[in-house]
Amino acid sequence: MSHEDFPTDEPAVVTCGLPYANGDLHIGHLRGYIGADAFNRALQTLGQETAYVCGSDMHGTPVAVNAEQQGVDPEDFALEWHDQYEETFPKFNVDFDNYGHTHDETNTELTQDIVRKLDDEGYIYEKEIQVAYDPEADQYLPDRYVEGTCPYCGEKARGDECDEGCQRHLEPGEVEDPTSTITGNPAEYRERTHKFFEVSEFSDFLTEFLDGLEGTSNARNQPRQWIEDGLQDWCITRDMDWGIDYPNGETDDSGDDLVLYVWVDAPIEYISSTKQYSERVGTDEYDWEQVWKGDGEIMHIIGRDIIQHHTIFWPAMLEGAEYNKPRGIAATGFITINGKGLSTSRNRAIWAKEYLDEGFHPDLLRYYLTTTGGLQQDVDFSWDAFQETVNGELVGTVGNFWYRSLLFAYRNYEGTPDADVSEEVRERIEGAIGDVRENVNDYSMRGVGQAATRLAQFGNEYIQRNEPWKLTDEDPEAAAQVIRDCVQIAKAVAVLLEPITPDKAQELWAQIGEDGDVADAHLEDALEAPPRNFDEPGELFEKIEDDRVADLTEKLEERVAAAADDDDETAAADADETESDDSDTGESEGMADTDDLEPLADERIGFDDFQELDIRVGRIESAEGIEGADDLARLEVDIGFETRQVVAGIKQLHDLDELPGEKCVLLANMEKAELFGVESNGMILAAGEEADLLTTHGDAAVGEKIR
Ligand code: MF3
Ligand code: ZN
Repeated sequence: MSHEDFPTDEPAVVTCGLPYANGDLHIGHLRGYIGADAFNRALQTLGQETAYVCGSDMHGTPVAVNAEQQGVDPEDFALEWHDQYEETFPKFNVDFDNYGHTHDETNTELTQDIVRKLDDEGYIYEKEIQVAYDPEADQYLPDRYVEGTCPYCGEKARGDECDEGCQRHLEPGEVEDPTSTITGNPAEYRERTHKFFEVSEFSDFLTEFLDGLEGTSNARNQPRQWIEDGLQDWCITRDMDWGIDYPNGETDDSGDDLVLYVWVDAPIEYISSTKQYSERVGTDEYDWEQVWKGDGEIMHIIGRDIIQHHTIFWPAMLEGAEYNKPRGIAATGFITINGKGLSTSRNRAIWAKEYLDEGFHPDLLRYYLTTTGGLQQDVDFSWDAFQETVNGELVGTVGNFWYRSLLFAYRNYEGTPDADVSEEVRERIEGAIGDVRENVNDYSMRGVGQAATRLAQFGNEYIQRNEPWKLTDEDPEAAAQVIRDCVQIAKAVAVLLEPITPDKAQELWAQIGEDGDVADAHLEDALEAPPRNFDEPGELFEKIEDDRVADLTEKLEERVAAAADDDDETAAADADETESDDSDTGESEGMADTDDLEPLADERIGFDDFQELDIRVGRIESAEGIEGADDLARLEVDIGFETRQVVAGIKQLHDLDELPGEKCVLLANMEKAELFGVESNGMILAAGEEADLLTTHGDAAVGEKIR
């Protein structure tokens, strides 16, 4: 099934995964909310009617566990974070049309309605299952109250998610060797009655749904594999107090109110929040039912750790309850800080508050995150790379072009010279508009940013090539033409960059004398003539100095080290990382004496021979040593289409715990082999004695062929 291109005649909604109301926001959150915000704004510049909604995720053990640690009531605890999030998002120009929370009345009612409907339709049944229990704490242990080993990949896992390994959702009772996170004791199992949603009934529907799904490829491919492996029904109730009650006053085996699993009510907030928006502005302006019950366009931006919830459970619920299904799901990649995994417990993160306190404009971070990662790619943040992007692209390319052309225009013509835009420039702007339209339809916000910056780059070249400062005396008409063109390019760049840097685009909009909001402009307005007069322009971006960056980097390193000191175990792990890091960047590294190298091959091969090698970009999902084999490790590698098990001789050479999440390069059509009883279905490519693993350094997506 293919969809009509954006803009369509139906209203759209863009959502972003709800943040758990349980702690400070950081760059990992921001990249999603900013990306989705930019996407929503970009859809609007295409002329698409949209709403951007979200809310705080208030329930479940992620909130209950943290509240308990602080000895506060989960509702008070969650509400406090909710208020803080609501205040913080606008500071990053993340402009939700509605920001609700899962515990409010709208969501409570709608959740109960939907569950009642699923029940009425016969999709819910009861079953007795074994639930982890801590006798000392005298408490059942749902989800994050229990930890153990993932039965699928062997990584350490939480009760309901393999968060450090294969990212799978785990059902109650599935986690192996469970221990209680309250007392650290091994958990016992007790029999309890729970409600199950018949997800397995939806296999055919989901297969078809995935065939028509837009967005990022991982959001289609991973679930296909899960469906092939056979879907399990989904336990939707929990033994805890905090949450939304199962409808119709149903009680659990102890006679207490039965509570829904957080992943039931959380995505329903997407609908509730849209409904609240619609009710606030009036259904004539925006009709939530047209979106969720009619044929509107639903787009979810999520983290790649919650693909299963959004591509299996959620569409099955929507189908069962007779709601509309998402058109697109974009799952964002990982964030690393200075090349290492973001870790809040190790304080290796850039906190939202910290960024603002440093006084940087939000649009700088928005630009960085969008143009390096967009909605899909992994992002590495370092203050160095941030500085390079800001100074190079925003100050050097965009800001420089804007300022020099507008200043020239102001000084010589008090604004926009009288002339028509030249054919060359008109076509160039039309080309950029086309690129933006295409990139938005491809969910590539990175492409949108690049199209805008390239246009500014063209502007710089254009002014440089035509040297209007020489022409003002010699050929005033030609000079006026060049500057007329440049003002048009500046205007177009403002329209094109608005989704990414809304404040800065607005400043420019005002500088060229435009009234109103650039956010209301459509792509075609980039070609409309700007006003005749404008005032003296000011510079829009400021260079970030080297010593500032050195300070910020040092601060970050110190604080990661301090967090590590707090915790001996982490300290040891961090020391390891630093060591391997140093050797990576050692000046003398990277060059080998050719005497030590295998000689170059004499014989040449043809391109066809090369073509026969099916080499793919992969992502390591898990890595563990193979028992009895000194050097061998068993890896699971996601290559887009499927996950491959491969055996690699890297057990001694790599810290296997650090590998999950890393990109790698895999020869996919290597003959299968069996080593120590483990099948190897592909070969990971590596260089040298130390098995330096090959990877890619740009945006190549998982599954992409090497050529
Ligand atoms: N709070 C969840 C998380 O951070 C995301 C919930 S998204 C929704 O993983 F779909 F449930 F809304
Ligand atoms: Zn796992």
